Amino acid sequence: MARPHIEPYVEFNEDYRAFDFAGYGGAEYKVLSLDVDTGASSLKVKFNGGYTRKPGLCYSDMEVFVLNGEIKVGSETWVEGHYSFIPAGVALGAMEVAQGAEAIVWYNDSEPTFEETDRDHPLALKEGFISVNSYLDCPWASGSIVSPSTATGCMIKLLRFDPITEAMTFLYCMTPEFMQDNISYHDCAEESYHIWGTSWMMQFGDLPTGGYFWRPPYINHGSFRSKLGCIAIGRTDSKLHNYFHFNPWTNPDDNQARAASFLYRQRPQLFRWVGAGGHNHPHGPQGQLKYQNPPHDFETPEYGHRPDVSALANQNYTFREMDHLHADEYVHKVHHAHKVEDDHHHHDHDHDHPHHHGDGDLDHKH
Ligand SMILES: [Fe+2]
Repeated sequence: MARPHIEPYVEFNEDYRAFDFAGYGGAEYKVLSLDVDTGASSLKVKFNGGYTRKPGLCYSDMEVFVLNGEIKVGSETWVEGHYSFIPAGVALGAMEVAQGAEAIVWYNDSEPTFEETDRDHPLALKEGFISVNSYLDCPWASGSIVSPSTATGCMIKLLRFDPITEAMTFLYCMTPEFMQDNISYHDCAEESYHIWGTSWMMQFGDLPTGGYFWRPPYINHGSFRSKLGCIAIGRTDSKLHNYFHFNPWTNPDDNQARAASFLYRQRPQLFRWVGAGGHNHPHGPQGQLKYQNPPHDFETPEYGHRPDVSALANQNYTFREMDHLHADEYVHKVHHAHKVEDDHHHHDHDHDHPHHHGDGDLDHKH
């Protein structure tokens, strides 16, 4: 099981606990969310004054966002707003926290591990390392890096984008008097920690400073308001697509079916392939999906009858046969197919639509 839906959660109401994992003696933590199968977690960590750690690596991808204080890491000094992505196996320099600091720390693949070393693991994807002060060194951009987009007044600083999964880590803010009236859901899990300020959602009420959520896919959220504005750090685990609508009564199954109907309409061949059995698709339904029946779209229930939609969905491409043919072979095949058809309907065609097979027709090669 992946992580459960936690929303809204306010970490200020909970106490820190001693962090007794290797490498963390002298620090304390609160669990924001936890995958009990893999051990992956999102933590708030307090490094007490005098905390030190030798150089070393972790066997999980890690992300760190500094909320306050000052953390020396090797030759770098991380202060509030500092963001770092540390790929599994990349060795961080010695850590030293003179007067205390707090950070959000994510372990993306497993529970925290620590191995003392000053060398990267030979298989570490070092190129993925990120270390940047998001407050000082990144510009705010419009939220419209995805389309359809949030309302104006939701700005983002993209801190990390995974080109394989399209997972993102980003700082976002809502301007004072931000409002967005529609309801949103996504195919990805979405996570947020409120660094400062309060936002409001129709389903979950106020999320104040210290507020947190881990929201699995297809859960309605919105409309949105923020009276005085807010700043937060957010993450997604895969592609963020905004499915917007205005029906507050739909459940995640309704929403997922509607998302599938988008795939049915917009990428019909991929939809057919995923739904078909026999190709051992790792996440596929192994042929249970009835792609003859368009997935239900609560917003546009009759869409399957539209001729443009059904024509696309019912197209039968014969990739295996035609995919790698040389142009000459292709012409030959097309001609042959026509000829068979002609022979079958010889009399009808002769009377109604006489065919010309003179020079310049496909026939000329034979
Ligand atoms: Fe969202």
